Amino acid sequence: MKYYLTTPIYYTNGTPHIGHTYCTMVADLVRRYKRMRGYDAVLTTGTDEHGVNVERAARNQGKAPQEFCDILAAEWRKQWDRLGIQYDHFVRTSDPAHHRTVQWLFERCRANGYIYPGKYTGQYCVFCNLYVNEAKPGDPCPDCGRPTETVTEENYFFKLSAFRDRLLELYAAQPDFIQPETRRNEVLAFVQGDLKDLSITRTTIEWGIPAPVEGKHVIYVWFDALIAYLTAVREQTINGEPVWPADVHLIGKEIIRFHAVYWPAFLMAADLPLPKKIFAHGWLLFEQDKMSKSRGNVVRPDPIRRVVGADALRYFLLREVVFGNDGSFSYDALIARYNAELANGLGNLASRTLNMLQQYRGGAIPAAAGDPAIAQQAGKVIRAYFAHFDEFGFSRGLDALWGLLSEVDRYIVKKAPWKLARAEGDEARRDLEETLYTSAEVLRIATALLAPVLPESAPKIWEQLGMPGEVTAVRLDDLRWGQLAAGQKIGVIAGVFPRVDAKEAVPRMLELEAEVVAEQNRLLGKAAPPPGALNPPLAPEITIDDFAKVDLRVGVVVSAERVKGSDKLLHLKVDIGEAQPRTIVAGIAEAYSPEAMLNRKVVIVANLQPRKLRGITSSGMIVAASVEGGPPVVAGFHEEIAPGARLK
Ligand code: MSP
Repeated sequence: MKYYLTTPIYYTNGTPHIGHTYCTMVADLVRRYKRMRGYDAVLTTGTDEHGVNVERAARNQGKAPQEFCDILAAEWRKQWDRLGIQYDHFVRTSDPAHHRTVQWLFERCRANGYIYPGKYTGQYCVFCNLYVNEAKPGDPCPDCGRPTETVTEENYFFKLSAFRDRLLELYAAQPDFIQPETRRNEVLAFVQGDLKDLSITRTTIEWGIPAPVEGKHVIYVWFDALIAYLTAVREQTINGEPVWPADVHLIGKEIIRFHAVYWPAFLMAADLPLPKKIFAHGWLLFEQDKMSKSRGNVVRPDPIRRVVGADALRYFLLREVVFGNDGSFSYDALIARYNAELANGLGNLASRTLNMLQQYRGGAIPAAAGDPAIAQQAGKVIRAYFAHFDEFGFSRGLDALWGLLSEVDRYIVKKAPWKLARAEGDEARRDLEETLYTSAEVLRIATALLAPVLPESAPKIWEQLGMPGEVTAVRLDDLRWGQLAAGQKIGVIAGVFPRVDAKEAVPRMLELEAEVVAEQNRLLGKAAPPPGALNPPLAPEITIDDFAKVDLRVGVVVSAERVKGSDKLLHLKVDIGEAQPRTIVAGIAEAYSPEAMLNRKVVIVANLQPRKLRGITSSGMIVAASVEGGPPVVAGFHEEIAPGARLK
């Protein structure tokens, strides 16, 4: 049976960080897991190459968009390959085949009466690719806080409003269509509100797919990007079964509306089958240390792979973060888990078991049934692991499995095979054999279950156990206690997860991070940008009096939290020497966690007209710098200075 899953397709205005890697690693895990459960799993990933952001980023490098995207798409693929990601389709939205699918879908929707020409005037956020219906000229985008641009366009509209009832019926008939529950509620509230038609072409953009209509219309990025999921498998069947529709789209929570509202509506309009599930994971928040902050707080996967291996990163992300919730990444936590659970937990069980087999039985698996209590627990764990993984509950599945590893660890200590080996008599011999068999059998079962999670290390353990065939060929549904054959000779023993010292590993990863950034900048030609290309031209000259109108003050952040429902905004209270701290809403949440902002000295524009963002009145603005398309970097002070001091 086919199982079709997708990752989002990633914008080519940057290169992968571990947030992107998270979703892609989960997708690869699910693909491998489903295959071992007997499905013909198909995974599509790719790059989202059109739109103003990418076009601007390309032009800033002095490159044509296509040339720029060619370089970046190759880089995304290279990074996925290095991390051992196995995908079946990599769709680039600039591929001619994709253009054809998008135009075909557009025509189908139009022929069915769901696309019509109209006129739009309003505010548009280039960064979020969104019309901000409620905004007035000059207003900031409610999501990212950046200024919106006023656009008036003759556009083609998609009749989204016509699908309100059908969408609500869909959510009611398939309660697990949108997961997790919080995202479902968010979508329900949105669709129950006033669902406006969607402008799906632009005349102001060049870099995109031409709409199959009269005139110079280019298709809106989301009517382009989502269709990549279909482009990949439009013609594909497996044993006569069409691969479309998707069984699950894995996405990040901020793009839920596009996937759970627009996408099913586009498909309904074209009379095509709908995906079965949209699963939105949370955000990965990054450790706030000096080095990452100065670089916009981005952690890349390659340095981690080179120091502790891609499996360690996968394991950390899957175990640390409940899929669907936000989670934090820090190098120290990564190393701590690696040492405790991979080096000590699994690695230790493997080396102990294999060494005992070698030492006490010449490397042969003894004939035994194994401990009945542990055998029973193993059966339960296999079932629990499947149940959790089937529901995307990876951390819980791994918890259950590690519970079994701890149990067998205690069992070995209790049995003390090193004593049994020295004891005389049949009973001690049998006891030793039972003990060795039990630990080897747990190791075999754990290794098979972990093959999708640890694709580099599980095959090594499998081989060391002397197992015939590839671990990936195991049919997990047939996995039972007692299948380990007596007499089987183990292979050559070699450690799988050597312990690492955080004091050495973390600085090494940071060093490599700097190298990777430099390498990627070179790749993009960022090392020698044409003078001034990255930065906007200077604003017209002003007098000292003009400058004096802007009241800049030193502020100290006394509290910081995320703004509910927004991934981009932080709600800050800033002491600027007044009776009460100021409330300031800042569009910096993608680059700074609340903890990172706490107690920081910042620069505040203190006499800026208050403005409401997401229902919170922001009285002032934090000063931050950014290069085109880059993250904000907040201005601060090196020396002591009291809050309220004026900058002049
Ligand atoms: N191109 C669109 C998706 C189109 S899908 C038809 C896009 N691209 S993106 O590159 O900005 O983001 C891709 C995915 O990466 C999103 O699902 C987003 O949630 C995810 N992540 C980006 N940063 C992330 C974290 N820090 N943590 C977890 N995932 C994050 O949106």
